[in-house]
Amino acid sequence: MSINFSEGLNDAAAITSSAVQPEDSGEGSLRPKTLNEYIGQKKAKDNLSVFIDAARMRNEPLDHVLLHGPPGLGKTTLAAVIANEMGVNMRITSGPAIEKPGDLVAMLTNLNEGDILFVDEIHRLNRAYEEILYPAMEDYAIDIILGKGPSANSIHLELPKFTLIGATTRSGQLTAPLRDRFGVTLRLELYTPQELCRIVERSAGILGIEIEPDGAMEIASRSRGTPRIANRMLRRVRDFAQVKADGVITNAVADMALSRLEVDKLGLDSLDRRMLGSIIEYYGGGPVGVDTLAATINEDSVTLEDVYEPYLLQQGFLTRTPRGRCVTRKAYSHLGIEYSGQQEIDL
Ligand code: ADE
Repeated sequence: MSINFSEGLNDAAAITSSAVQPEDSGEGSLRPKTLNEYIGQKKAKDNLSVFIDAARMRNEPLDHVLLHGPPGLGKTTLAAVIANEMGVNMRITSGPAIEKPGDLVAMLTNLNEGDILFVDEIHRLNRAYEEILYPAMEDYAIDIILGKGPSANSIHLELPKFTLIGATTRSGQLTAPLRDRFGVTLRLELYTPQELCRIVERSAGILGIEIEPDGAMEIASRSRGTPRIANRMLRRVRDFAQVKADGVITNAVADMALSRLEVDKLGLDSLDRRMLGSIIEYYGGGPVGVDTLAATINEDSVTLEDVYEPYLLQQGFLTRTPRGRCVTRKAYSHLGIEYSGQQEIDL
C-alpha cells in the first residue's frame, strides 16, 4: 500500500494552523470585550464571573489565574475580557520574551495597583526566574540582590497588588511551586460546531460579510474546534465568495472554498491526514511513540502533541496508549483505507 499524504501542505496547513499568522492581525476587532459577548467556554466563564464579582465586591484584585488548553482557543482574549470586567489595565508579555531577570523585575515594578500582568506561554519562562514570581505572587514584593559575594546587598521592593494571568498549552510543564501559586485554574476546551457557528456569524456581522446560516455552519464544522481558525477561514471563504460568486457565503460557496484549500469535511488538513496515514502505512495502525511519528513525517513532536493531536483525539481518530498513538477504525474509514485489524509491529 502506498499513499501520498504529502501533497499541498502549504495553503491548507496555513489555514488550519492554530498559531497566530500575520493575516490574523485584524483579529483584535473580532475579539469580544465582555464575558457576555464571549461565546462558549461556559464552565470557565461561569466560574470566572463569580470570582470577578467577589473580587469586585471586596474591592480587591482578582486572584492569580492560570489558563490552559490548546492554542487558538482565546486565552489572550479571555485575559483581556477579565481586565475589562475588572476595569483594570493589562500588560502583556510571554515566557520566551523574558530574557533576563531584569525584564521581569521591570514588568512587575511598572504595574499599577490592580493591574493584570498577562504572561503567555508561561511554561517557557526560564526556571531560574520563576523564583522572582513566587514572592511577587504571594506577598506582592520582590527581593533584589545587588552585587556578589560578601558585599552583596539585598533590597526589598513592595509591589502594587496585581493579578498574574498565565497562559499555557502545557500546564504539565509548569513547576509545582509555580502552579500552586495560581488560585484559579481554568481549562479551555475545543469549541463545539454550534459555538463556532455563532462566532463566525458574529465575526461576519462585524466585518460586514453576508453569510447564510448553513454557510456559517460549514465553516464552523471544518475549523477544528478553534475560533482563530474559524475567523481565518471566514476571511478566505469571503475571498472566494467575492471572486467566484456574488459575495454571499452560502453553504455551497463555503464547501467549494474549503475544498480548494484542502480542508476536508471534518476540518482535517493535509498534515492531519499524513499523520494518520503514516501510522497506518508504517506502523500498522499503531501504537507508535510520538517522537518516532514526528521523525517519520518530519514534524516537530511538540507541534504534533499541542496542535494536531487535541482535535484528532477529540474527533476519535486517534487514541493515546501507554505504548504510543494508535489510529481508530474511524480514521481508516475517513481516509478510505480498508481496516485490516490492528497489526503488531516487529521490533
Ligand atoms: N472571537 C474569537 N473567540 C471568540 C469567542 N470565544 N467569542 C466570541 N467571539 C470570538
